[in-house]
Amino acid sequence: MTETAPKHTPSPLRESIATILQRDPAARSRLEVLLCYPGLHALLLHRWAHACWQRGWHTLGRCISHAGRWLTGIEIHPGASIGRRVFIDHGMGVVIGEMAEIGDDCTIYQGVTLGGTSLAKGAKRHPTLENGVIVGAHACVLGGFTVGAGARIGSGAIVTKPVPAGATAVGNPARIIMPKTEAQTDGAFAAYGITNSDDPVSIALRGLIEGGSQQDAQITLLWQTLEKLAAQQQAQSCLPTDAARAAHHFEAEKIKGSLGN
Ligand SMILES: CC(C)(COP(=O)(O)OP(=O)(O)OC[C@H]1O[C@@H](n2cnc3c(N)ncnc32)[C@H](O)[C@@H]1OP(=O)(O)O)[C@@H](O)C(=O)NCCC(=O)NCCS
Repeated sequence: MTETAPKHTPSPLRESIATILQRDPAARSRLEVLLCYPGLHALLLHRWAHACWQRGWHTLGRCISHAGRWLTGIEIHPGASIGRRVFIDHGMGVVIGEMAEIGDDCTIYQGVTLGGTSLAKGAKRHPTLENGVIVGAHACVLGGFTVGAGARIGSGAIVTKPVPAGATAVGNPARIIMPKTEAQTDGAFAAYGITNSDDPVSIALRGLIEGGSQQDAQITLLWQTLEKLAAQQQAQSCLPTDAARAAHHFEAEKIKGSLGN
C-alpha cells in the first residue's frame, strides 16, 4: 500500500516572495523582494505582533507593530487578522485597524485605510476583506462590513457600505460600476442585480446629457428664427415705403423752410 506524501506547504516567507514576484511586474529577483519591499517586512513583523496579541501580550504586540510602522510606513494593528499571500504594494501610509480581517490573496496599495467610523469599544469597527480583494491606492474602507471575494475598490474610493463579491466600487461615496464586458453586452446579464440604470449617478448624467442636447436644438431653432427676422427687417429698410418716402420729403421741406426764415 502506497502512502501519499503530505502536501508540502511553503513557508510564509517563501510564499510571500513568490506572490510579490507574481503580482508586481517591477519585481526582478527574490533577493530584491526580500530587501526592498516594505509590504513584505510589515507583514513579517505583523505575524510576530499578532502572535503576541493572541497570547495576551498586548503591549509587546503594540511595540512590534509600532516598530514596523517606523520601519515601513505601514501601520497594522496587532489585533488585525491577515491571510496568506497578501501583498501590500509600496505600502507607505497604509493603516489597518484592530478588527480588520483580510482574506487570502488580497492586494493593498499605498495609502489605504481599513478603518472605522464608530468609537464603540469591542464592536466590529473595521472591515472584512474576503479572498482576492484588491484595494486601490488611497482608498478608505470604513466600517465593520464585508467586501466580497474578488471585489475591487478603485483608487481614491471612500467605501462605507458592503461591496458584493466580484463587484468594482469607485468614487466618493463609492458606487458600483459595471465591468465593461458586461455593460457592452445586450444587457440581459447584470451581475449582482446591479445595472447601469440602477446607478443614480449614471441616471443623473444621462438626464443632463439629454436635457443639454434638447436645449442645443431649441437654441439652434431660435437662432434661425432671429436670422430670418433680421433678414426681413433689412430687406424692408432697403426698400422704403411711400409713407416713409413722404415722411422723408416732409422732413426735408420742413428744414428748408426753417432755414429760409
Ligand atoms: C477601479 C479599477 C479596479 C477599475 O478598473 P477597470 O475595471 O479596468 O475599469 P475601467 O478602467 O474600464 O473604468 C471603468 C469606469 O470607471 C472609472 N474609474 C476607474 N477607476 C476609477 C477610480 N479609481 N475612481 C473613479 N472612477 C474610476 C473609469 O473612468 C471608467 O468610467 P467610464 O466608463 O465613464 O469611462 C481601477 O481603475 C483602479 O482604480 N485600480 C487601482 C489601481 C491602483 O491603485 N494602482 C496603484 C498602483 S501604484
